[in-house]
Amino acid sequence: MAEVQHDSQGEKRESFIAKQQLISAAKTAFQQLSTVMKNTTLYPEEHPFLRVSAEKFLGTIGALLADRKEVAFYLVGGELFFETYSVLADQGLVLLMEQFTNLEVSGIIFSPGLTEKELIKFAILMGKETTFFASQGGITEVIEQEGIAHIELRRVMVVDKSTSGAIKEGKKQASKIFMEAVETVKEMVQAVHMDKAINMYKINSTVQTMVDNILYNRDALMGLTSIKMFDEYTFAHSVNTAILAISLGSFLSFGKSQIAALGVAGLLHDVGKVSVPHEIINKPSKLTDAEWEVVKRHPIEGALILSDTPGLTKLAMVVAFEHHQHGDVRGYPWIDDRLQQHPFSHIVSFADTYEALTAARVYYKVQISPEKAIRIMLKEMNNAFDATLLKAFVNMIGIFPTGTLLKLDTGEIGLVMHQTRDLMRPRVLLLTKFDGSEKNNGAEVSLLETAGGQYIRTAVGTIDNQVAKIDLKQYLV
Ligand SMILES: [Fe+2]
Ligand SMILES: [Fe+2]
Repeated sequence: MAEVQHDSQGEKRESFIAKQQLISAAKTAFQQLSTVMKNTTLYPEEHPFLRVSAEKFLGTIGALLADRKEVAFYLVGGELFFETYSVLADQGLVLLMEQFTNLEVSGIIFSPGLTEKELIKFAILMGKETTFFASQGGITEVIEQEGIAHIELRRVMVVDKSTSGAIKEGKKQASKIFMEAVETVKEMVQAVHMDKAINMYKINSTVQTMVDNILYNRDALMGLTSIKMFDEYTFAHSVNTAILAISLGSFLSFGKSQIAALGVAGLLHDVGKVSVPHEIINKPSKLTDAEWEVVKRHPIEGALILSDTPGLTKLAMVVAFEHHQHGDVRGYPWIDDRLQQHPFSHIVSFADTYEALTAARVYYKVQISPEKAIRIMLKEMNNAFDATLLKAFVNMIGIFPTGTLLKLDTGEIGLVMHQTRDLMRPRVLLLTKFDGSEKNNGAEVSLLETAGGQYIRTAVGTIDNQVAKIDLKQYLV
């Protein structure tokens, strides 16, 4: 079972591995439930095959119930959740999920005391048609009449106006936090230019707000990183890097204080660029060798600036120094003895590389889709990046990151809004008019949704929003 740990701040958290074990146990339980249901159609109630399958399920549920009051599964938009964890359902489970969805069941909750008899009765009932329940007064009523006291069903909830209002409010909030963070970086760069001290109070409080927002809802701020602002790009680059680094920290279940340290390191990683002349930073053509040497000094300059900053953890200095080293010979600054980089340097480095790759078009008119950026990074995996951490980064970003435009096999265009457990099947907003009007009224669907055991929609490719002339900002802000 998931062991509970406490981080240095005494925060309660589950380790990444414990969480994965929990999700896998939940998946097993759901698979076993599927077998029980199948067996009720093949064998009579007392048949040993049916009873053995029921016992197996009860064993898994019993173990899950050891440290929780109930075991709850939810079905939302074709996706299976155990509590708040998304469970990747393979094809075998898709039909069962559909069966529940057709009965308008969106949640199944098992509580302690569940007997084999109750379970088998429940499994038989779930194989019945909607018309049967309609004639008996409703599914929950039938469950009650049958004396099934330890299984509770939740009905499909219709998303009401207040929920969509909350989503809109969340996006507004995220874009305010984003703009404030850009201002903070700008002020910090100006202070360094004028040889003044960096205002660490401001940096820390900005990062704290970002961390709180991302822990609450990762998608809103992450979505904003896909919008590349030309005017303020140099500052937005640091904010985007910090958002991506914070998100990976939270994805890996780091403690809040570690996530905040990652955010500070992300925000400050390029501070050494103040020592690189503007003409070089903004040069659209290829840099000369001499210019390149100047650029390559920014990690050293950054570490020097940060070594002097009161109130800053040494980690930000280490990350600024190491963020281009990549653990191989092509990295810089070169040091004789190849030391291992701090894991936080790797994380900031992925965030920085991914951000820079996807933003290349801002200055250089190079078209790199988020999906291609991920592919480039995966190709470099064996030499330049820490493979395990990079895999986690890719899992977090998704194969089709938030803000990607997808061509669907139905002929529709979908804008990726949220990731699901299946990297190939995110939730998308269906676009038809490209003028932003779908934002409030458009249909958001999950590519995990099925009908007759088949996926309703599948992504067949990506579309470059620049080429298609679709302004993504109107959907993501
Ligand atoms: Fe850099
Ligand atoms: Fe950078």
